[in-house]
Amino acid sequence: MKLSNEKVTFITGATSGIGAAFARRFAREGYDLIITGRREKIIRNLAGEISKKYGVKVDVIISELSNDEDVNLLVEKIKQEENIEVLINNAGFGIGKPFYEDAIENQENMAKVHILSTLKLTYAAIPNMIKKKRGIIINVSSISSFFPLPDAAIYSGTKAFLNNFSESIYLELKNKGIYVQSLCPGFTRTDFHNRMGLNKGELRNRGIIRWMSADRVVEYSIECLKKGKIICIPGFWNKVLVLISKILPRFLYYKIVIVAKNK
Ligand SMILES: NC(=O)c1ccc[n+]([C@@H]2O[C@H](COP(=O)([O-])OP(=O)(O)OC[C@H]3O[C@@H](n4cnc5c(N)ncnc54)[C@H](OP(=O)(O)O)[C@@H]3O)[C@@H](O)[C@H]2O)c1
Repeated sequence: MKLSNEKVTFITGATSGIGAAFARRFAREGYDLIITGRREKIIRNLAGEISKKYGVKVDVIISELSNDEDVNLLVEKIKQEENIEVLINNAGFGIGKPFYEDAIENQENMAKVHILSTLKLTYAAIPNMIKKKRGIIINVSSISSFFPLPDAAIYSGTKAFLNNFSESIYLELKNKGIYVQSLCPGFTRTDFHNRMGLNKGELRNRGIIRWMSADRVVEYSIECLKKGKIICIPGFWNKVLVLISKILPRFLYYKIVIVAKNK
């Protein structure tokens, strides 16, 4: 699918990392932007930098996506803004604790941010896309969606939901000019891991674990978009990891995970 200009791209979680890289990339293509985030100073600086560099309009909305009222305001914004051609449900976070040891509110919030906000914003965006017979929806999932892991039960579960959801609505919308992608990045250098307490030294390549920049992930997403790929896995080694997860007998997979966790 060809990218066009004079249209709007709506991105959740564009303060840093993959969302910020998408914002720069679509601004470069001439899209005006509506971007959301919570770290107000950082996202407003980014908006200023982008509009100056690319000459596009950037609207910032401060929004906590685990909060229903904030999400409902975004829903109204999407319904009113008829020119949203691209919707990128990108905001997300990790926790890194066993399910039963973390506060249930944190787990609920993750489900709200990854699942509920995505489905509400997508639902709001589709009617105008159908009317215009044109639209792109990118849901930022993860290769974790293929790996049920301890300390990431809700993370990998919610990301697996995004894959199935994206594929299903792709099938529903494919004759209406709307393209849907589930972007499944692997290890990506962003603020994601710092927030979970990992230091920069831990973000290095080991074996088939290969770290990638957010810009590179976004380039892969654009390539998938042009090729019409629905499940988009950036990078050769990430594809190998996903393949392994699919062909490995489950009992063997569990054994490997348990050994790795106890190391
Ligand atoms: N980094 C990786 O290795 C990796 C791998 C696979 C998938 N992903 C996925 O990629 C997406 C982007 O993450 P990233 O790696 O770019 O991390 P990041 O740099 O930490 O960016 C995350 C973005 O999501 C926003 N966000 C997080 N929780 C939110 C909440 N409760 N309400 C509203 N906004 C919230 C953040 O807003 P503020 O900063 O303003 O708070 C930020 O803009 C996520 O969905 C993540 O699961 C990341």
